[in-house]
Amino acid sequence: MLLNRPPQSRRRRRALLAGVVTVATAALGLGLSTQFASAQTTLRGAADELGKDIGVAVNYNLLQNDATYRNTVATEFNSLTAENAMKMDALQPSQGNFTFAQGDAIVDFAQANNQTVHGHTLVWHSQSPSWVQNLSGTALQTAMVDHINTVMDHYEGDVQSWDVVNEVVSDNNGALRDSFWLRGLGEGYITTAFQTARAADPSVDLYMNDYSIDGINAKSDKTYEIAQGLAAQNLIDGVGFQAHLILGQVPSNMEANLQRFVDLGLKVRVTELDIRIQMPADASELQQQANDYRRVTEICAALADCSGVTVWGLRDGDSWVPDVFPGEGAPLLFNDDYSKKPAYDAVLDALGGDGSGDPDPTDPTTPPTTPPPTGDGCTATLSVQSPWNTGATYAGTVTAGQALNGWTVTWTWPGSERISNAWSVEGNLTGPTVTATNAGYNGSLAAGQSTTFGFNITKPDGATASVPTVTCTAS
Ligand code: XIL
Repeated sequence: MLLNRPPQSRRRRRALLAGVVTVATAALGLGLSTQFASAQTTLRGAADELGKDIGVAVNYNLLQNDATYRNTVATEFNSLTAENAMKMDALQPSQGNFTFAQGDAIVDFAQANNQTVHGHTLVWHSQSPSWVQNLSGTALQTAMVDHINTVMDHYEGDVQSWDVVNEVVSDNNGALRDSFWLRGLGEGYITTAFQTARAADPSVDLYMNDYSIDGINAKSDKTYEIAQGLAAQNLIDGVGFQAHLILGQVPSNMEANLQRFVDLGLKVRVTELDIRIQMPADASELQQQANDYRRVTEICAALADCSGVTVWGLRDGDSWVPDVFPGEGAPLLFNDDYSKKPAYDAVLDALGGDGSGDPDPTDPTTPPTTPPPTGDGCTATLSVQSPWNTGATYAGTVTAGQALNGWTVTWTWPGSERISNAWSVEGNLTGPTVTATNAGYNGSLAAGQSTTFGFNITKPDGATASVPTVTCTAS
């Protein structure tokens, strides 16, 4: 049984893996050809072409129990991080007693689906078992070294990069975090952790990882200082930027911040991206969120040494955010019914896929676009950005034939399609006949100028998302 392995070295079991891969791949109905045929319409297809990781933090229970979850994780992502299963409390709940079954299940899934694994995390003040928090001095040092050695040995060849230390910098004062590790071992514990990890498996990329270091500030300055010291000893390969962000607050200097770490010769990685919204989230906030996701992804896409972007969970309902930030939520790329949010399209687009706005007409998988109707006042087009079984995201474009102060686009759905939410557009949107008028800010257009809007539909009958004929009227 795949999910219940004894805690033995995975290296010694590697000969078995070919069989495991075949069985698990067949069980999922996914093959390599599926992955590569979808190169421009899935996140992983686009990221593969770009040579980047697009990752997701996976929840062991969902991976085990929910086939749609498994399918979506397999289809959309080329990298996995265990959301909790590789933390110290999960892997060594009592001293010397290692429990690898859940982590192994995630690794097995990744290998069955040709995905890499980013290991999270070896040394952290949180989610550490109480037995280790009660140690000090040599006993604590030995426990840290043993944990790193045992875990990295177990996952050698299976995990391509590790967060060696997590959240070691304090929030306010640019000092090291006051943790049981620091109190018990002194400042040198970070270097010891990296030295141990480097020796345990020299082929793995070693990262330090933290939150609120996405822009330039006292905390990222301190992180930079630590990374610089470790880099000088060739003990570190990358810095992970968690990027647990608030809507509309992608730091304006995030790109410059990542660049300065790259200039140290390091990789950078967005490791835990989520963008939270005060609930309930409305359509314009979801569009703002898409813009924020686009921006973060574009920053990584443009930096050769950014290894990738990992989102911290699959669906909004899977996220840790509502538990930790009461009243906030909706931070991820998928709705709870696995439909794609505007943020999904933005990430796909930023990875160079056919997410939104810029479909590739030469790509046979690009859905059709309506030919622009003629008319003096304005023309409009609708295009399907990303269809799924029971819904789709559309983009609309209005182009002014003359200067105008407002526009109305009308159409009738041929089938069961109905708009569920929309952005940058108002009017009577939800019925079979749609009258879509400009929002307050995108009605005034100069001759020849264009503006865009978007919406999601549901199509309960599962039919192909249609592109109805539209009429544009200037007002
Ligand atoms: C979170 C998980 O998402 C939760 O399920 C768990 O209860 C607490 O930890 N920074 C990290 C992650 O490095 O490990 C945290 O994950 C989120 C913040």
